[in-house]
Amino acid sequence: MNIIEVKNLTKKYKKLKAVDDLSFEVRKGEILGLLGPNGSGKSTTINCLLSLLNFSSGSIKIFGEEMKPDSYDIKSKIGVVFQEVSVFEELTVYENIDYFCGLYITDNKTRKKYIEDAIKLVGLEDFKKFYPKKLSGGLLRRLNIACGIAHKPKLIFLDEPTVAVDPQSRNNILDGIKKLRNDGATIVYTTHYMEEVEILCDRVIILDKGKILATGTTDELKELAKIEEKIKVEVNDLDCKYIGEIKDFKNVDEVEYNWNMLLITYKKGKNNLFDIMEYLKKENIKYSKIFSERPTLNDVFLELTGKELRD
Ligand SMILES: Nc1ncnc2c1ncn2[C@@H]1O[C@H](COP(=O)(O)OP(=O)(O)OP(=O)(O)O)[C@@H](O)[C@H]1O
Ligand SMILES: [Mg+2]
Repeated sequence: MNIIEVKNLTKKYKKLKAVDDLSFEVRKGEILGLLGPNGSGKSTTINCLLSLLNFSSGSIKIFGEEMKPDSYDIKSKIGVVFQEVSVFEELTVYENIDYFCGLYITDNKTRKKYIEDAIKLVGLEDFKKFYPKKLSGGLLRRLNIACGIAHKPKLIFLDEPTVAVDPQSRNNILDGIKKLRNDGATIVYTTHYMEEVEILCDRVIILDKGKILATGTTDELKELAKIEEKIKVEVNDLDCKYIGEIKDFKNVDEVEYNWNMLLITYKKGKNNLFDIMEYLKKENIKYSKIFSERPTLNDVFLELTGKELRD
């Protein structure tokens, strides 16, 4: 069953198509990753889905019904964690969560339990009486999440919830999000961190310039890579004549040498590692490390979206 169905969604800002003819679905119980560079249209897509933005054309169905600005019944089953932290400075951690949860859950006993569940989920037990100003960046992000999900929504949108948090907080947040999914929520998660997508998402949409470039599981997306193997060699002061020779090896796609690391990418081939080790030995080139890798999601992402810098 599909929780969200988007057909031919387009959102224009004057001439710019921030979202350009998007069609996709979100299936019940999955974590769908929206992965894209800065300005690719992730937040605009979410804001259209939430009916916070008018869109230029297309249709959006959520829980099988058309989503409109006054679809309050649908909205009451949705939780949103916005890209910008949005909590009240005047309220403590507990009071903030109580406020947001209270918009949906009016029964006091149920709300108290839900607030405690949310606090536990994001690990804020020791900070209930803290004001937001006293929280570190990671704790503030965790509060932002708790406020968005405390009412136990069936559908949750998280827009880059782990920006600027340290790895410890990030792991804690990702574990929490998995728990929400395991408890039955359907989740749409935007990010530009590949490792988060690998850990978290059941399916991924790669977005750029408002268009879908690819959809699939992370394994399916890796199959799209044009390269088949990467070999890295840690070697000091390599003469460029060797780099030229390696470029002419069979199967080699590209050779780069930066910061004493030689990176060779191969389109295909079976004995690439053996061949390069033989060559280094023959030329008496000493290296401290050598290893072979399969293409990563990052490689596929850069192949699809290009390497130029974004805004
Ligand atoms: N209110 C607006 N007016 C004009 N252009 C806008 C507006 N909001 C967004 N845009 C443009 O729409 C495009 C998509 O922006 P959006 O914020 O959806 O990207 P994003 O993928 O969420 O990026 P990021 O990773 O930086 O959050 C960008 O080119 C952006 O400059
Ligand atoms: Mg955004």
